[in-house]
Amino acid sequence: MPKIEHCRLVELPKAYLLMNHGPVVLISSAHGGRRNVMAAAWTMPLDFSPAKVAVVVDRNSYTRELMEASGEFVLSLPPKAMAGKVLAVGSHSGREGDKFVAFGINTVPAEKVSAPLIAGCVAWLECRIVPEARNQESYDLFIGEVVAAWADERVFRDGRWHFAEEELRTIHYLSGGSFLVSGSAFEVSPT
Ligand SMILES: Cc1cc2nc3c(=O)[nH]c(=O)nc-3n(C[C@H](O)[C@H](O)[C@H](O)COP(=O)(O)O)c2cc1C
Repeated sequence: MPKIEHCRLVELPKAYLLMNHGPVVLISSAHGGRRNVMAAAWTMPLDFSPAKVAVVVDRNSYTRELMEASGEFVLSLPPKAMAGKVLAVGSHSGREGDKFVAFGINTVPAEKVSAPLIAGCVAWLECRIVPEARNQESYDLFIGEVVAAWADERVFRDGRWHFAEEELRTIHYLSGGSFLVSGSAFEVSPT
């Protein structure tokens, strides 16, 4: 169990629920003593069991270099309170300098992969890349098998999101520094 307050295990077949509402994520990566973090909006759940996700990672990014070298990555879901840091790590490359230091981003060791979890986020998916050379080369598309998943029990418990406090809600990216925050939940029954 990662040493993060409120953090609870999410069963892997339920891991897709963490991504089902299309949040912006932070992708962290690490290899050979180097580590990095970037923002990503182009992500989606891909399968229940084994749990898989898909992410689009630009071929010029430092993240891509470390992901390909290590075969691993972590998706951390930032809440509204971290939007400024999301924009910062999505606007600078780790090749310019250590973004964790520059933007005051704290990490916690993951359980199954070398890339770290990002502190202050509300859910985390530890992933191993399922190599698909054509997708990676042609579309910058990476498939990750989720090997561990965690969520903050204040907002994700009993297999569903319970958004209340505005600052703990996940966010969605529009462009140019504009975000939406996750809104009110409502229920419908199939007719
Ligand atoms: C909110 C947001 C979402 C982004 N989404 C993606 C994405 O889905 N895929 C991608 O390759 N880059 C995306 N970017 C851009 C990368 O985060 C950016 O190129 C970053 O500087 C790469 O950092 P690195 O070189 O340290 O890996 C996004 C940027 C922002 C601000």
